[in-house]
Amino acid sequence: MSSFSISRFRALFGVFFCSIVTAQSFAQTNPGDSIKDRKWWKEAVVYQIYPRSFKDDNGDGVGDLKGIISKLDYIKSLGVNVVWLNPIYSSPNDDNGYDVSDYRNIMSDFGTMADFDELLKGMHQRGIKLVMDLVVNHSSDEHEWFKQSRSSRTSPYRDYYHWWNAENGKPPYRYSLFDVNHDAWRYDSLTNAYYLHYFSRKQPDLDWENPKLRQEVFNMMKFWADKGIDGFRMDAFQYVAKDTTWPMFPKGFEKNFNQYYGMVTGLHGYLQEMHKEVLAKYDLMTVAEGAGNTYEDAHNMVDSARRELDMAYAFDGIDVAKQDGYSLLKFKRIFTRWDSVFADQGWLSIFLANHDNARLVSRFGNDSREFREVSSKMLSTFLMTMRGTPYYYNGDELGMTNPGFTKIEDYRDKATLNEYQHMLNIHADMTAYLKEIAFSSRDNARTPFQWDDSQNAGFTTGIPWIKVNPNYKTINAAEEEKDPNSCLNYFRRLTKLRRDNLVFVYGKYTLLDKDNPNIYAYTRELNGKKMLVMLNFSSKTAAVNTLYNSVGANRLLDNYVGGAGSNKVEVSLRPYEAVIYQLR
Ligand code: NOJ
Repeated sequence: MSSFSISRFRALFGVFFCSIVTAQSFAQTNPGDSIKDRKWWKEAVVYQIYPRSFKDDNGDGVGDLKGIISKLDYIKSLGVNVVWLNPIYSSPNDDNGYDVSDYRNIMSDFGTMADFDELLKGMHQRGIKLVMDLVVNHSSDEHEWFKQSRSSRTSPYRDYYHWWNAENGKPPYRYSLFDVNHDAWRYDSLTNAYYLHYFSRKQPDLDWENPKLRQEVFNMMKFWADKGIDGFRMDAFQYVAKDTTWPMFPKGFEKNFNQYYGMVTGLHGYLQEMHKEVLAKYDLMTVAEGAGNTYEDAHNMVDSARRELDMAYAFDGIDVAKQDGYSLLKFKRIFTRWDSVFADQGWLSIFLANHDNARLVSRFGNDSREFREVSSKMLSTFLMTMRGTPYYYNGDELGMTNPGFTKIEDYRDKATLNEYQHMLNIHADMTAYLKEIAFSSRDNARTPFQWDDSQNAGFTTGIPWIKVNPNYKTINAAEEEKDPNSCLNYFRRLTKLRRDNLVFVYGKYTLLDKDNPNIYAYTRELNGKKMLVMLNFSSKTAAVNTLYNSVGANRLLDNYVGGAGSNKVEVSLRPYEAVIYQLR
């Protein structure tokens, strides 16, 4: 937390933030703007909420819908205009809601349908749209469909899932991402057959070849759309189509299973059918998790003429960071390439964190005491100034960090725990594994939201389902509200800047100083307005060399306290410094 606290400026900032709260949620057209194909979902800033960890209202240690309702004004104050909620449907919680047992009901841990209706209403009253997670590559094994399906080979629900009869021998190997043995076929003695599960044993894969199953999914989507939700984030959707002749895959295919599992023939047909049956009838924002294996795959899912989905969510950028760091040159190449491929057609999501990855600042920045704040603000600057729709994960606006768990007992994520067991079974180096998961486990991003410095960070009055990060005493929303220079207030300035300047949404992106290993610099340009963004991704002062060195410009934002600085473009940036200029 910055020690720079200027309380006399608080009154002033109070006014400043009120004006954000009452501002339009989506940008208005300015006279003279000529922007091809404007859409509300392109102009959105998506705030991702992990409900289990956001705010617990009833004191059972688990976040809930009433908890989110109690924080709607906070969410609004961030200047975001879309919320993506991780799954809130009924679930036995083998995978924290990604194992749905009833798609038309609310998980009891999270509340009731009445709570949901109130939440949706509260969001809409504040100009915030709601995107729901749609988990239909698989269901829970406790879903009624699966109970029926496994009950007999002649059940009308048998073909809702993938089965392999055991009298035909063992099925061709399929890798499972979450299974202790990595085996995606699970034997079920009841009907002497194996069922398929790409994820955990409790997440059997649905059979999309079955038109009845597809119709069930489309009807269920309509049920939520009729309630007034504004979009779907489609979980693991690139895997739904499968080659059900079950060919043998080459040995070691699991090292690149996406190539075998992703975008199998049939997928585009399913999406086009979904578009016709559901999406064309509503004004929904749609995004599938994963964007296939090639740029062409990604395009094919989101080119509007094909009538499938709205935007691609590609992992190349987030995947760059590994335990031992990452190369900024590679990072720049990836984002620049994706931008160029989507410059004229299609639309991208921009993100560096979510509930499946480490915390933004711990993974891509520097979470040391010295650099946490400044590097976190620098990364937020990147996310809010690129072309595409930014997805921002809850807690990152505070600069929340990985918790640094050292014991397996601290983890809750099934994928992490099952892999731990797998590593034990194969006598792997467990010290190395513990070190690896302290960096990469999904639980790093799932510790409770840090609201204040009271017990359990103000998240719950009960026992939190997962440990609170001990740094909540200093890193928390209440503390950051008071400091005009906090990560939180800086993030609000960024969302306002993006909202007020469509150039950040639609403007042409041009990379500058391409071979600079420390600095990411680029311009964004639209209808005669040109912005220059310069970001130092390193912990050292670094030179930056662009056409604009020392030219006069309006400095719109700087992540250094007191960084109002000169209005000449800097030729070097301090560690993790981020500056945005409007060029004259
Ligand atoms: C991707 C989701 O983001 C992840 O959290 C989940 O475990 C898998 N899909 C399986 O649903």
